[in-house]
Amino acid sequence: MCGIYGYVGDQQAVDFLIDGLRRLEYRGYDSAGVAIMRPNRSINVVKRGEHKSSIKLLSKILTNSENPGSLGIGHTRWATHGGISEVNAHPHTDPENNVAIVHNGIVENYLEIRSDLKSKGFNFVSETDSELIACLIAHEIKQGKNLFESVMNLKNCIRGNSSVIAVSVNNPKEIIGIRLGNAGGIVIGLENNSGYVSSDVSALLPNTNKITYVENGELVRLSSSSYSIYDFSGKKINRDLQKVEIDDYDIDKGNFKHHMIKEIYEQPHAIQSSFSGRVNFHSRVVDFEELTESTINIKNFNRIVLTGMGTSLNAAIYGAQIFEKMLGVQSSAENSSELRYRDPVFDEKTLLIAITQSGETADTLSAIGHFKKKSCSVISVIETLGTQASRISDCTISIRAGKEVGVAATKTLTSTMSTLFQLALYFASTHNKSSSEFLHNALNDISLLPSVISKILDSEGHIKRLAENISHSSNLLYLGRGINIATALEGALKMKEVAYIHAEGYAAGEMKHGVNALLGSDMPTVMIVPDDHLYEKNLGTINEVKARGSRTLIITDSEAEEIKELADDIIVVPRINNELSPIIFMIPLQLLAYHTACQLGLDPDRPRNLAKTVTVE
Ligand code: AGP
Repeated sequence: MCGIYGYVGDQQAVDFLIDGLRRLEYRGYDSAGVAIMRPNRSINVVKRGEHKSSIKLLSKILTNSENPGSLGIGHTRWATHGGISEVNAHPHTDPENNVAIVHNGIVENYLEIRSDLKSKGFNFVSETDSELIACLIAHEIKQGKNLFESVMNLKNCIRGNSSVIAVSVNNPKEIIGIRLGNAGGIVIGLENNSGYVSSDVSALLPNTNKITYVENGELVRLSSSSYSIYDFSGKKINRDLQKVEIDDYDIDKGNFKHHMIKEIYEQPHAIQSSFSGRVNFHSRVVDFEELTESTINIKNFNRIVLTGMGTSLNAAIYGAQIFEKMLGVQSSAENSSELRYRDPVFDEKTLLIAITQSGETADTLSAIGHFKKKSCSVISVIETLGTQASRISDCTISIRAGKEVGVAATKTLTSTMSTLFQLALYFASTHNKSSSEFLHNALNDISLLPSVISKILDSEGHIKRLAENISHSSNLLYLGRGINIATALEGALKMKEVAYIHAEGYAAGEMKHGVNALLGSDMPTVMIVPDDHLYEKNLGTINEVKARGSRTLIITDSEAEEIKELADDIIVVPRINNELSPIIFMIPLQLLAYHTACQLGLDPDRPRNLAKTVTVE
């Protein structure tokens, strides 16, 4: 949530700032701006507040010749305090334009600070909490402190989670950064007489892969040729740059109209990567080298808790069912934002599996931190290695989906589910809980996933036509049972997120307990009906729904005539192992949400009010 970027070096800053912001745009696209230190030691701030197009606008108006300077900071915003406008866009400065900052996070004691600064004579132009930070720093500088000391003083003033980078005309060759809590990381890099700082390593990769992180409770001073990291007592911390082996991702959409559809189509490859080298189909062995190298032994746990937010929570709900079934160990899924503030009875016999593709979600990081303090062991399941979740967990497993740019999680979800399934298989086989026949069949079906997904993608035209109907709905119900409850929840989440249609996911058995009252011609249902032991129960639900006048769109892996006759609309997918079926059912649901959004003229890559990485609670 919000992307921050800074450059200090011997070259003009503008191009670095624009490229950095483009790479961070997925973190927030409400507005964007840059502050560049002019050669005459004054700060040039250029911002735009046009939702979704600010970076494009900036790139058109910012030229090196008209905006000279070899130090600059930039920001792409997801609005918290104050609406989407140019004046609320970052960078923010103090009234005298001596200090500029960009900020990621929330200042919780905003009102208190605002009135204190007002009493000291400060006036504000924006409605943001971030402007106060620039004023707090400027006030300290006026009292005789230098920029570093003034930024350090923020730890005494602001409450809540915040990451800030700041520049000042008194110190025109240095950027100072501070991390207070889990509002998103700060990563720095150095290369060829240039220093780089960002909230995300992917923004640094075009220019350097030699990086290091600034952790919670630390500050950094960054110049073109050096950096120093300090703790809050002012003690210098020795932390070398490390070479990271992360591929620079392609932020282009190729031949696709949107990242979302490109990423939906990347799923066969992403799933293949999730098991390549982990599953040996000849010797029938599943191996996670991350686990063999760690101290985590499944025999030590009597409880498994999977946690995450949004789509990652839906993956956790799926995973909990798989783990409990395959391992016979009590397993549950918990919403990280709730888990963090409850005080559940967890101890060293509880294994926490934290799911977060970004590795940066504030709620999930807080949950990890909280339960680490209770001596729980934590495995994080993430996409990008080196992110915060991996740095605070006992063991990290990559889903290997490749960078996901679209705000709606698609390939990272199915890769996470595939990884969780393999993880359960790995634990089950090391624990002698799975028969060789089960393992054989499960591995066989994992190997089929890429081709089965490709086959479903071939039916995109059919799903696109169904989306035309769906796009006229104001409400939708998604129903599933058993292992496919998570599928129903996720189908509804995708539809709400990108097509802005009110949609709810329910366990089908819940209908008679209240939800049936909603049924009628204005409440179409999307039902997930696998050909499994619950098939007949689902047929019963379809009949009940139809009897009350609701249209049914059935997604099934059954070829039976009866279900084709019952359904108003139907999507038939290939049949696969029941525990893997949610991965398969997810594909038509993603396509349905995507095409409904397109049908409604919406941009599924940038849904309103959302950001890819949610670094505030
Ligand atoms: C889903 O499409 C959303 N982008 C959102 O629910 C997301 O899954 C959630 O914010 C968690 O993100 P994470 O996996 O990066 O922690």
